[in-house]
Amino acid sequence: MDGKNVTTGTVTLTDNTSGKSREFPVLGGTSGPRVIDIRKLYAETGMFTFDPGFVATASCRSTITYIDGDEGILLYRGYPIEELAEKSDFMEVAYLLLYGELPSAKQKEQFFHDITYHTMVHEQLASFYRGFRRDAHPMAVLCGVVGALSAFYHDSTDIHDPHQRMVASYRLIAKMPTIAAMAYKYNLGQPFVYPKNSLHYAENFLHMCFAVPCEEVKVNPVLARAMDRIFILHADHEQNASTSTVRLAGSSGANPFACIAAGIASLWGPAHGGANEAVLKMLAQIGSRDHIPEFLRRVKTHQDHTMLMGFGHRVYKHYDPRAHVLRQSCHEVLDELGIKNEPLLDLAMELERIALQDDYFVSRKLYPNVDFYSGIILRAMGFPTSLFTVLFAIARTVGWVAQWNESIEDPDSKIGRPRQLFIGSAPRHYVAVEKRGS
Ligand code: CMC
Repeated sequence: MDGKNVTTGTVTLTDNTSGKSREFPVLGGTSGPRVIDIRKLYAETGMFTFDPGFVATASCRSTITYIDGDEGILLYRGYPIEELAEKSDFMEVAYLLLYGELPSAKQKEQFFHDITYHTMVHEQLASFYRGFRRDAHPMAVLCGVVGALSAFYHDSTDIHDPHQRMVASYRLIAKMPTIAAMAYKYNLGQPFVYPKNSLHYAENFLHMCFAVPCEEVKVNPVLARAMDRIFILHADHEQNASTSTVRLAGSSGANPFACIAAGIASLWGPAHGGANEAVLKMLAQIGSRDHIPEFLRRVKTHQDHTMLMGFGHRVYKHYDPRAHVLRQSCHEVLDELGIKNEPLLDLAMELERIALQDDYFVSRKLYPNVDFYSGIILRAMGFPTSLFTVLFAIARTVGWVAQWNESIEDPDSKIGRPRQLFIGSAPRHYVAVEKRGS
């Protein structure tokens, strides 16, 4: 079964106040926990469910990504992330996420060609950057520029036209590295570098970031491969905060560029994609191995809201499989760059070792997540910490557009409109200002 769900039984809910019972269908998917279909709950009982943070709520059906958090399994369209990271490449993974199947050689070539021919941005967009301060955070720039794309590409904003939806999706995947690299160059005060169609996706991105007009820059293939792998690992992660934001924004019929800009804004938070930047700041703050116990003491006592960044996950109660791959990649990249001793990597590994033996983290099932090691690689590659979440956004754009397309095509999709448990004031009458007291 793929793309369908079946009713596997019912659940009876009894209201102990009224004594009334009602049955609700239980649906089963291909894998994962079954769900109680409560769509008729309010109509039949006059009650809502209460689930802040969607801890026990499936917000949609999806066929794209599956996570088994207890076993530490992540599958894109059924394929294990470790196999894709080792054997595939980001363009192939993008095709897989968008279309559901790995491409044939011909389809792959055509897809890569089509993405490549959308990598340039409207020349007018360059002047948009000049409105930002040079020291603006690149995520702030990314939010603004991606949101502005709908003003440049009006011809792909009709969400009911599948062709326009696909053109918008290709544009977003293709232009995101260009826009991100421009944000970086603007920060540095260097000229923008145009995309080069002879280069592969990740290679092209590194070239746009690190090339300068005055000399020939050849991208190191090991670093291009590492970048491509980082993109694969970050491409999708089912209904996380930013993806749910994209779906929610899309549910109102908003155009795709606006929806992805909303996703970027959500990703920026330190509990989500901003964690990779926060990990490096944390490691710098800890400074050395002998400060680890004191730092962990502050984490465990919640002193000043201190968290062990890059640890913990809503779904994984096991080692994040992406962190495994990245830990390995870290060593490869550092070896390639001839970095024998990277104090931050030593510190991160020691921090991980100590935390994984500490009852606070063990009992809460807190393990390293994707962000724990990615920053160390990105820093070694030459990226400033402020660009880390931008790199995450480039990769996640593929997942966002795949999930956005899926939600638009889902006949059961409705405008997202959660309800609330109101705990504010009971109705009361307006009091004139002179009668309100001091
Ligand atoms: N450091 C210290 N304590 C933690 C951490 C952490 N990193 N993560 C969770 N906890 C504690 C939390 O305080 C709570 O303890 P208690 O039961 O005593 O109140 C318990 O573990 C359960 O945590 P939770 O807050 O209920 O878990 P959640 O599912 O709401 O939050 C999370 C998940 C990822 C937001 C959280 O673990 C966190 O903030 N981690 C640090 C930030 C981070 O690395 N984020 C990247 C996530 S992966 C990539 C991505 O999504 O973009």
